[in-house]
Amino acid sequence: MQVDVLLGLQWGDEGKGKIVDVLTPNYDIIARFQGGPNAGHTLEFDGKKHVLHTIPSGIFHEKTMNIIGNGVVIDPIVLRKEILGLVGNDVPVSDRLKVSRKAHLIMPTHCLLDRASETAKGKDKIGSTLKGIGPTYMDKTGRNGLRIGDLERADFTKRYDALRDKHVQMLERLDFDIEGLEAMENDWMEAMEYIRQLNFINSEYYINEKLKNEKRVLAEGAQGSLLDIDFGSYPYVTSSNTVCAGACTGLGIAPSSIGEVYGIFKAYCTRVGSGPFPTELLDETGQKLRDEGNEYGSTTGRPRRCGWLDVVALNYATMLNGVTQLIMTKADVLNSFDTIEVCKQYKVDGKRSEELPFYYESSEVEPKMESLKGWKKELDHTQELPAELEDYIDYIETETGCPISIVSLGPDRTQTLVRDLHTV
Ligand code: GDP
Ligand code: IMO
Ligand code: MG
Repeated sequence: MQVDVLLGLQWGDEGKGKIVDVLTPNYDIIARFQGGPNAGHTLEFDGKKHVLHTIPSGIFHEKTMNIIGNGVVIDPIVLRKEILGLVGNDVPVSDRLKVSRKAHLIMPTHCLLDRASETAKGKDKIGSTLKGIGPTYMDKTGRNGLRIGDLERADFTKRYDALRDKHVQMLERLDFDIEGLEAMENDWMEAMEYIRQLNFINSEYYINEKLKNEKRVLAEGAQGSLLDIDFGSYPYVTSSNTVCAGACTGLGIAPSSIGEVYGIFKAYCTRVGSGPFPTELLDETGQKLRDEGNEYGSTTGRPRRCGWLDVVALNYATMLNGVTQLIMTKADVLNSFDTIEVCKQYKVDGKRSEELPFYYESSEVEPKMESLKGWKKELDHTQELPAELEDYIDYIETETGCPISIVSLGPDRTQTLVRDLHTV
């Protein structure tokens, strides 16, 4: 059996959580492969809204196993809070969740280092979620990191102390105030004791064994392709590979095991944090998108920057991921717009281009826009879509060369139109 992958094609928050929840009945296993509590994946059903940060979005389904893969970084305090919230909603998390021993741990000092780094950058700050993601991946690639599996070893505390001391020295050099660290560490150690009860596994063996036994696996991406550490708008990116290849390294599956690649995008564009965004609207149209789309971060509550759909960037992400099917979300947010604009080309150095330039600065990239007619109607998944929305879908399918198999028309599980879906 092959692994299907669902990932964001923009700057995150495309609606991955909602769509994974919708697709989960088709799968036996949902697996997160990168990122950590910087993610905020929202699901809505039965009149209730849930936001997940580290736990895969299949957790609400009785028959599905959820895996936190080796590529994920875990903050035990956030994970414990998430589990307690779910258990409070009668979700038996420990029966439905397994965690890779190789997943790295976010320590309190990683969070402080994240803050110190952003403070030092001043106006050039990344706009990080400050969840300790960058420093934790730095320790991973620097071969210093602490992993979940280390908790089972006798020298865990010694290893923790050694890394903490190194971080404290770094923070002192940066003249960063570490007051409150002791309380954070006590909370962290308590949270580690709590998550000890979880099922730790060698997830690469588990997943490959399940594939051999014809189990269906969906890999759930976090963030989006334009935040990828290699291919995103560097340095305004996150610290992991958010593209499809990340599913191989973040779960231990071979590239030949990848099946369908669902690329998810909003019918417009948003971004949280700093960095280039060629189609950004700083006017009342941008504010209208923010208001209609309720564009405020699921993790930090920050207002999201809003703009029109960027097909140049969408094509780039579709290429990098080998997307086989597109999923468009938040079409309903455009219901009251007379016209919908789309960027089809950039002008860079006076020349028209359909590629993202190496020096990807908003000030250097002029988006060339095209207008399409809006549908000016409420959308209903039980009825035919308005002709203007069908035209918008056709336009995107033609430009990307990829079919749109799902259109999402609202935040609830039920507000989903499945057009022509292929799964493993
Ligand atoms: P994720 O990080 O990709 O899972 O996305 P987020 O959960 O951070 O942000 C997406 C937001 O849009 C959430 O508040 C969802 O409830 C909401 N959402 C998802 N799909 C739709 C949709 O089709 N229409 C509307 N109006 N909201 C949606
Ligand atoms: P989901 O999975 C949107 C952004 C941050 C910042 C940059 C680096 O919900 O789509 P980091 O905390 O990783 O150091 O931040 O990446 N960012 C996200 N933006 N959605 C996310 O996740 C994000 N995770 C990180 O705002 O610009
Ligand atoms: Mg999100």
